Amino acid sequence: MKKRLAYIVLISSLWLSTGHADESPPQFALSPLPYEKNALEPYISETTLSFHYGKHHQGYVDTLNKLIDEKGLKGSLEEIIMKSSRNPELKTVFNNAAQDWNHTFYWSSMKPGGGGNPTGPLLDLITKTFGSYDDFKKEFIETGTKLFGSGWVWLVKDKDNSLKIIGTNNADLPLIHGQKPLLVCDIWEHAYYLDYQNRRKDYVEVFLDHLVNWDFASQNL
Ligand SMILES: [Fe+2]
Repeated sequence: MKKRLAYIVLISSLWLSTGHADESPPQFALSPLPYEKNALEPYISETTLSFHYGKHHQGYVDTLNKLIDEKGLKGSLEEIIMKSSRNPELKTVFNNAAQDWNHTFYWSSMKPGGGGNPTGPLLDLITKTFGSYDDFKKEFIETGTKLFGSGWVWLVKDKDNSLKIIGTNNADLPLIHGQKPLLVCDIWEHAYYLDYQNRRKDYVEVFLDHLVNWDFASQNL
């Protein structure tokens, strides 16, 4: 009986020493990629997508989970983004939460066989706002090319329901400015440097011509 008790104590202490007793599941999980890692080739290579999704996006999720665990923060990803955006002391939480959100939105903003012109009400709105799809394309590429440093280029629906192309720096996102995002292109170098090096303009052009998921943008309208 004593031997059995000693065995139970030993197993319990081993379990505790490996940290199992304190571990709770992370609040946020990496969102599934909506396609295979080689599905966007030849425009975005499997190597780029593997690093971008598996290392960069995963890294933001892991850091976010660690930070909110340390700070005892709870809530949906959007709630944590809104809360941390108003508090300079939570800047690192905001950066990682927003980067998680932005990347999930970016993966859905592309699809294999995507690109080309939108259709239906979205095309009508784009034409009404920018003059033509080609004018929209020109402004989107220019915004992406001229954005200083790292960031994102978005097509958004503004508070007055008009469409706008905006560039945001670092992790900044339309959500905290009361704008509704329709689609986004990642302008951080990790998104394109292995495939396009310094040719950011080519990458943004390819994003619109061959990758953009207009069905997703229409659903967000
Ligand atoms: Fe990225």
